[in-house]
Amino acid sequence: MTNKKYLFSGIKPTGIPHIGNYLGALKQWVELQEKYNCVYLVVDYHAITIDILPEELKKNSLMTTRILLGIGIDPKKSILSLQSKISEHTELAWIFNCLTPVAEMERMTQYKDKAKEHSKNINMGLFDYPALMAADILLYKAEAVPVGEDQLQHVELTRLIARKFNNRYGQYFTEPKALISETKKIMSLNNPNKKMSKELGEASYISLIDTPEIIKKKIMKAVTDTSSSKEMAPGVKNLFDLLLYFDNKTAYDKFSELYKKREIKYSDLKAEVADAVITTLNPIREKILSYQDSEVEKILADGAEKAKAVATKNLQEMKEKIGLLK
Ligand code: TRP
Repeated sequence: MTNKKYLFSGIKPTGIPHIGNYLGALKQWVELQEKYNCVYLVVDYHAITIDILPEELKKNSLMTTRILLGIGIDPKKSILSLQSKISEHTELAWIFNCLTPVAEMERMTQYKDKAKEHSKNINMGLFDYPALMAADILLYKAEAVPVGEDQLQHVELTRLIARKFNNRYGQYFTEPKALISETKKIMSLNNPNKKMSKELGEASYISLIDTPEIIKKKIMKAVTDTSSSKEMAPGVKNLFDLLLYFDNKTAYDKFSELYKKREIKYSDLKAEVADAVITTLNPIREKILSYQDSEVEKILADGAEKAKAVATKNLQEMKEKIGLLK
């Protein structure tokens, strides 16, 4: 690869992302491919920190890879693979375990939330999740990490681990920086006071593989004005935001005028939003569904080979610094 800086990000294979996930994070991954040596992994070792059936995990890992391909992650430009194929990740996680104070881990809010949510399965992996994440990033000496705000604390911990390693064994890592995308917060269609989320049911979100018919149906049913307040209602604002984010500024301006003049018909606005969303998502959906499983597997294997080349070299350098014999 070229002498660009490394960038790392991971996505858990837990299902099909919705447009909130896409606009909030995944879309940036595509653009970042021009500026960095990107390593994008489907993080299946992170996924097994919560209960997931083997068949489900396999299916999700393949589907998540398809989705990355579908949105435009290009295996010729970037490394695209599966975390568990590169065993150096877990090896480095052990090394980082020995540098990470338990007290730091105990502060992690995601752990506390997940422990509450999965109170019947609070396992060591769930607790240690951030050490594996630090290993993901630092194995490639990545300097940039595109993540959502909810992962900031984990990136901070990664910086701390890098610092501790440098202090103990001599300068090796540059502390990685989180790249937070400008907040494009998409609200739930059926409950616009809450963020779009799968937990709020099918009618809340649009998934990246929803068909045009389903997209249209969900948007036509979106909640708009429910009060007589002078402020723009959250559901209406959400529809306007969608027009902008799905690149129809002309319609945005037109409906803004109509809104000001109080002549807006929400059914027209919705039809326009549905069109804009479908125009973007339809080619993505078609691409996602166009791959055979065997093609996806081949891409993951090729990606793993490229990842391994970087990972083995870096890990060997780290092991030497630590005093682990070759
Ligand atoms: N923890 C991240 C999430 O839940 C996924 C992830 C795993 C990740 N390893 C990473 C993100 C490394 C960035 C860098 O979304």
